[in-house]
Order: sequence, then C-alpha cells, then structure tokens
Amino acid sequence: MSDATPKKRATPAAKPAPAPPSPDSKAAPAAKPAAKAAPKSEPKPAPKAAAKPKTAAKAAPAPKSEPKPKIAAKAAPKSEPKPAAKAAAKAAPKPTPTPKTASKAAPKSEPKPAAKAAPKSEPTEFSTPTSKPVAKRLLVTGATGFLGRHVVAAAKAAGWIVRVLARPTSNLGPIAGLYDEVHTGDVTDALSLRGSCEGVSAVVHCACAVASTFDAGRAADAAFMAVNADGTANLADEVMTVPGLRFVQVSSTAAMGAPQTAVVGPDSPCQPKTPYQRSKRAAELLLLERAERGLNVVIVRTCVIAGPGKERSELLKMFKLVKAGLFPFLGNNLDIQKPLIDVDDVVQALLLATERGTGGGVYLVTSGGRHTMREILEVAQSLTGGPRTHVAIPVAAARLAARAFAQAGRFLPDWNVPITDERIDLFLADRQIDISRAERELGYVPKHQSVEEMLGATYRYYRQRGLI
Ligand SMILES: NC(=O)c1ccc[n+]([C@@H]2O[C@H](COP(=O)([O-])OP(=O)(O)OC[C@H]3O[C@@H](n4cnc5c(N)ncnc54)[C@H](OP(=O)(O)O)[C@@H]3O)[C@@H](O)[C@H]2O)c1
Repeated sequence: MSDATPKKRATPAAKPAPAPPSPDSKAAPAAKPAAKAAPKSEPKPAPKAAAKPKTAAKAAPAPKSEPKPKIAAKAAPKSEPKPAAKAAAKAAPKPTPTPKTASKAAPKSEPKPAAKAAPKSEPTEFSTPTSKPVAKRLLVTGATGFLGRHVVAAAKAAGWIVRVLARPTSNLGPIAGLYDEVHTGDVTDALSLRGSCEGVSAVVHCACAVASTFDAGRAADAAFMAVNADGTANLADEVMTVPGLRFVQVSSTAAMGAPQTAVVGPDSPCQPKTPYQRSKRAAELLLLERAERGLNVVIVRTCVIAGPGKERSELLKMFKLVKAGLFPFLGNNLDIQKPLIDVDDVVQALLLATERGTGGGVYLVTSGGRHTMREILEVAQSLTGGPRTHVAIPVAAARLAARAFAQAGRFLPDWNVPITDERIDLFLADRQIDISRAERELGYVPKHQSVEEMLGATYRYYRQRGLI
C-alpha cells in the first residue's frame, strides 16, 4: 500500500503484460481504431499517426520547454530522484523523457516479476526517434479500484503505456505488473496533480468516492462532493494544461437520479437526489462547462457493473439477502427492468472513448439487454442456493417508514438511514436505457448480455474471497 518512494520513476510493468484479470478482447482493439467515427468536434482524436506527433511534441519537448521541473517539483518533493534523470536527459537528447512523471517505485507489495522484466526496455521513450510506432500513454485514476484495475489491465494488453494516479496510501499490489508509471497524487489536492498529464494521450478518470450509492448525511454529502466533484474539477484543470488532451469521465446512471420515463437516453433530464447522485451529476456539469472552454471531454455513464473485484457493492448485499431469503422487494412487479453491465464492456466503452466520441458528449452504456428483477433474483437464488422467496414490502408501507426515518434523521444528520424515498424511487424505476449513441459514435458493442454469466462471475469472486 504505500508508495514507499513516491517519486521515483515507475518501473514495474513488464511489457508482455501479464494476463490481465479481464482481457477484454474488445477493449484492446479499441485503442487503435481512432477517430473515424469522431465527429468534427473531436479535437485530436488523432488517428494513431496524428496522435504521436502531438504526444511526442508535448512529452518530449525541447530541452528548454522541458516540463520536468514541474513534474519533478510535484512528484518528487524531497526524495526527488530527478538529478539523475535530468542529467541524463541533458546529456543525451533523446533519453526517455518519461521519467518525469515521477512515479514511485513499485510498492513493496508489488510483485517483482514485472519489475524485472521491464527495467531497461521500459516502453516509456515515446520521444525516441525510432521508426517503430510510438506507444501512447494513458493516465488512469482510481486504478486501484474495481473498475480502474480492469481498465489498467485492458489498456496494458492493448499496448498503452499505462500511468496510474495513486494516493500515497493506495495499494498497488493488485495491479502489479500491469502499469508502467505511477504519479502520486490525490484528486482533492490540485497541486499533487501537477505534471500527471505530461506526455499523456488520454485520461480515464475512474477515481471516485463510492462508499455506497445511498450513503446519506451531511458528512457523506461533503465527502462525495470533495472527491467526485471538486476532485474532478482539479483533474480537469490539469488536463486542460495539455491542449486537446482527451478526458474520459467515468460517470454513472446515478447522475440521472431515478428518471420516470420508460426509456432513458443521454439527453434525458437529470434529477439527482442523493449525495452520491448529486456529486456525480455535479462532476458532469463542471466538465461540460469546461468543454465549452476547450476541454476535450467525453462522459461515459454506466449502470451497475458486474464482475470480479468489487469488495463492497450492492450486488454483494443482494447475494447475501437472497441467500438468506430476506431480499426486500418493494411492490409486486417483478418484471421491472434493471440495467446491468459486465465490467469488460464498461472497459471497452472507456477505451473506445479515448479516441472516439464527440467532445462534450454523454454516452450511456449497459449490456444492451432487458434484464428484469425477476430474472436477476432467480439467477441470484440459483447461484446462492437461497430459497425462492423474498420479503414483499408494500410500497405504501415503505414510504411511511422512509418518512419516519427522515424525521428521525433530522436529529441525526449523519445517520445513514436504512430506507429513503430516493431509494424507493430508484428501486421502483422501471426503465430501459438507450445505448444507441454509444453504439453509433463510440462503436460500442456489448459482449455480455447473459445475467447468469455476469452475476456468475461476480458471485464466484465473492465465494473465492469468502465474502459470502
Ligand atoms: N461499481 C459500479 O457498479 C459503478 C456503477 C456506475 C458507475 N461507477 C463509476 O465507476 C467509477 C469507479 O468505481 P469503482 O466501483 O471502481 O470504485 P472503487 O472500487 O471504490 O475505486 C475507487 C478508486 O478511486 C480512488 N480514489 C478515491 N478517492 C481518491 C482521491 N481523493 N484521489 C485519488 N484517487 C482516489 C481509490 O483509490 P484508493 O485505492 O487509494 O482508495 C480507488 O482506486 C466511479 O466513477 C463510479 O462512479 C461504478
């Protein structure tokens, strides 16, 4: 967990990218297809050919404009390991300018296999005048989280040079060998982000506070806003120091609240209610405002994600309740639709968005299938061996309880009440999500639509971890 040596050049990754947790065969190709689909509004979706020059120009600037100082200052405060790198850079014009992003050396928990394999051949010299194609660099935030880990693995497998943004306390162990560089920083600390985007071709912003979609209370509100909104603003401002740099924002259907329309599209009105929902929508709005000032941002809203790797999730809670025959079902309509998506498909969409999609565009992604609560509960019962029962709760009774809890909550501002009107609304929401824009403009093609498959992989992960 820790970056023992915060600002060292990262090293880890072995080029032959170890088998990623979820090799997304779809995501991989996505990295190249660049911009055909990209509309005019797309700044520099740069088809690989174009991307390099740009990237190179920025990453390997002339000695004088050398941005190192900045990065060094930020990434390597005291233990600044630059002297060497800097000296080398001067002595030899082309030597890898990458070391800039300061990375901390792989944490102790980090497996060495990768580290050994990559030392010298480290793919960081994209400024080297070589005839072979120059790899592009992707900055991934939230890389140690559930989604971020899958993004890192798929990006690495697709040939990206992967730089991760990690907090000093982040545990890089789970992605050991899958990333190339580390920039130590915290999105809530703008200064710590300085230099994180140097030499980068695209940013996938997964970092987020997601304790629980339904956490309530003033503390939760402030915490969600600090990381999800203010933190995103800090990162966006850093991204804007690199003209045209593509910023892919991982958003959530939660940002829309609980739409009452049967079909929800990317332009449907948003009515976020909970602290988490408001923070995700606030992040979108501040990004869209910056898009008008030149930020090359694409927002990808995903629904609940299934797949291995999420320790605390609504799906784990559901499995536990279903296994005990205690899943609380509001109302009596088991056929309401609930969107779901496999983590590999989310990754696919995000990597596609690094080069496709309209700047300032919002894209919704799901499995594309029509999954009902009935189907989800049946699969969960089948997987857990739980009884084919659930606790039916009349909606009116649930609303009464929510009101009572809300009253009590007024005296306990930070109490996370068990049931709220917003939660009821979301549970009852019966909606189909329109992903046609993502299919059309990003080239997104969901590969997983089987609930058995998606929930099965998720459930097996929990079983293996002894979480259920
Ligand atoms: N999971 C889902 O079902 C789902 C559904 C819809 C949308 N999403 C979106 O997907 C994204 C990723 O979610 P997730 O489930 O992967 O979350 P997660 O597992 O909780 O991971 C959160 C990541 O954010 C990092 N982080 C938190 N605060 C940070 C800060 N102040 N500075 C830098 N990094 C910070 C964490 O780093 P540490 O390791 O240091 O804690 C961790 O890597 C979020 O934007 C979320 O809204 C997720």
